[in-house]
Amino acid sequence: MPKRTLVTSALPYANGPLHLGHLAGAYLPADIYTRFLRRIGEEVIHICGTDEHGAAITLAAQKQGISPKELVDHYHEVIRKDFEDFHIAFTHFSRTSRPIHHEMSQRFFLRLYEKGDIEKRPVVQFFCPTDQVFLPDRYVEGTCPYCGARARGDQCESCGRWLEPFQLVEPRCTLCGNPPEPQETFHYYFRLSRYGERLRAWLEEKTHWKPHVRNTALSWVREGLQDRPITRDLSWGVPVPLEEAKGKVLYVWFDAPIGYVSATREWNPEGWEAWWKDPETRLVHFIGKDNIIFHAIVWPAMLMAHGAFILPADIPANQFLVFRGGEKFSTSRGTAIWLRDALSAYPADYWRYVLTAIMPETKDSEFDLEIFRERVNNELADTFGNFIQRTLSFIARHLGGRVEAVEWGAEEVAVLGRLQELRDEIREAYGAFRFRDALYGVMEVARLGNRYLDQKEPWRHRKSEPRKAHQTLYTSLQILRALVAWAEPVLPATAARVASWLAMEIPDFDAAAIPDPSLAGRTIPEPEVLFPKLEGPVVLSTPAGKKEEKKVEHKPEITYDDFARLEIRVGRILSAEPHPDADRLLVLKVSVGDEVRTLVAGIRDAYAPEDLVGRQVPVLVNLKPRKIRGVTSQGMILAATDPEGRAVLLVPDHEVPEGSEVR
Ligand code: 2FM
Ligand code: ZN
Repeated sequence: MPKRTLVTSALPYANGPLHLGHLAGAYLPADIYTRFLRRIGEEVIHICGTDEHGAAITLAAQKQGISPKELVDHYHEVIRKDFEDFHIAFTHFSRTSRPIHHEMSQRFFLRLYEKGDIEKRPVVQFFCPTDQVFLPDRYVEGTCPYCGARARGDQCESCGRWLEPFQLVEPRCTLCGNPPEPQETFHYYFRLSRYGERLRAWLEEKTHWKPHVRNTALSWVREGLQDRPITRDLSWGVPVPLEEAKGKVLYVWFDAPIGYVSATREWNPEGWEAWWKDPETRLVHFIGKDNIIFHAIVWPAMLMAHGAFILPADIPANQFLVFRGGEKFSTSRGTAIWLRDALSAYPADYWRYVLTAIMPETKDSEFDLEIFRERVNNELADTFGNFIQRTLSFIARHLGGRVEAVEWGAEEVAVLGRLQELRDEIREAYGAFRFRDALYGVMEVARLGNRYLDQKEPWRHRKSEPRKAHQTLYTSLQILRALVAWAEPVLPATAARVASWLAMEIPDFDAAAIPDPSLAGRTIPEPEVLFPKLEGPVVLSTPAGKKEEKKVEHKPEITYDDFARLEIRVGRILSAEPHPDADRLLVLKVSVGDEVRTLVAGIRDAYAPEDLVGRQVPVLVNLKPRKIRGVTSQGMILAATDPEGRAVLLVPDHEVPEGSEVR
């Protein structure tokens, strides 16, 4: 019986596009591993999907002025397409916002709750009296008590410290800007502390894991595990399935890993249990190092508590890809190379090759476009591509497009023997998540082929001793066939392309080291250039490593009807006064035709009150009234923003009657 392996890769948040660091961290290695197992004939599936809940999503949606659903619908599609074009071949790619996932997460919760592994506890939490909601940590902002920077209630990005919202100086609700108040509520806690001993024993046994993964997890366990709150006050997410918990949802890190199970079930409603309940199945989670704690501690403890599912067999987390010089790929600082930009510049296999060759398997590894260029030109083009080119074009040009099978001589026997050794080395490396080594072995095959051709010099005796030339090229073709099979996990498009030239199937991994007599007599066409070299410096549409000053974040498309719901009219400012309770705000009286509205506007940095009186401005008049620092604003003035972030009024080209509609 072949082994059955369930491969997962971390469910990416559907709140933005992915960059090369994400690809090198989890998705590419997972895809390589899955393809490898398939090639050696094992049963394997690769499960993933988008992670669509959590405060990061709701806040991003709010910032863009759209609903969380609109945001995740958009990015699910962006991410799915990026993966598809990079040939990340998932068996199933799902979404955590689907009903099947909600249902499974709720059942998972209830099972733990009924066993006493989840417990309701009172907590004191910030409540916003204006918005009438309890605020999740990320919804509180203020000044970091350590470094004085502006910080969120969960972490200060400036100094990196973890925070509690109560530690913030001058905390504010991110929804309305008002100070929140501490109030008593309750949350549900997963009793992680109960599992410390079992986790420690379980992790101790995992001596075959990557040391950095096991050590990180063990050091947390040894420090002692705390129970963790697993619910939040949000209206977007998986509702807590208890009558008493209205308005609360599961914490995103509680439901996300359950997504691996629900996606498997969605893929195969009848057969999914074999993948999750049969101890013969190996569960392997591919993740980046920032996800180690959740996958190596919290999730296994959840699985132990649940009791019906298998535990992860391995978690081959990668470290980070960083820019040469050590700077992180950062989404927020605009120093990332987006998958879409990468693909628009060069084919997927170029990136797959280079990212595998420098994969951050055990420590961070450095990347830049110069490294990319060198690897592509010197290795992919000059070694790999060159061997294939030489072999096929020699046959096409000088041997009439087909080779004859000629018995091996001593040199051929030696070369084919070496091929078998390389197969074993490459197989071993792929199987042990050492993809860099595996790829190095693959390149050794190409080098072996090139050396063999150099040594045999078939161009010398193609006329005088055609049998010898046929013998050499028949042997080269066998090497080429093995090369294609063993490179396929890393370079799937290239392998498929070369195989199609030869009208052959890509052989199974082991069989590829055994010569295939059917290569003789096959028609070999003149090959196309496999890997055109990169001339000059590599250029991407978004310069990597540079701050992306002008990156515009477009919002998802809307219909005219969406737009028509906005009522925008030209108003005239009748008076303007400083807000009694906020330095940056003005309180305006604005006539919008049939009535005078009070509007609160953040334009005090840009305009003196006396300069505003009498001017015409566009006003969004059907915005729900909101209290802003104690003054109710009945609409909103529309303005542009200059590079310093100051408001710039938009004035009609010439005066129009007050109340004129803007369309
Ligand atoms: O770090 C992240 O992008 C998370 N969305 C990963 C979740 S992995 C799993 F638990 F689903
Ligand atoms: Zn508020």
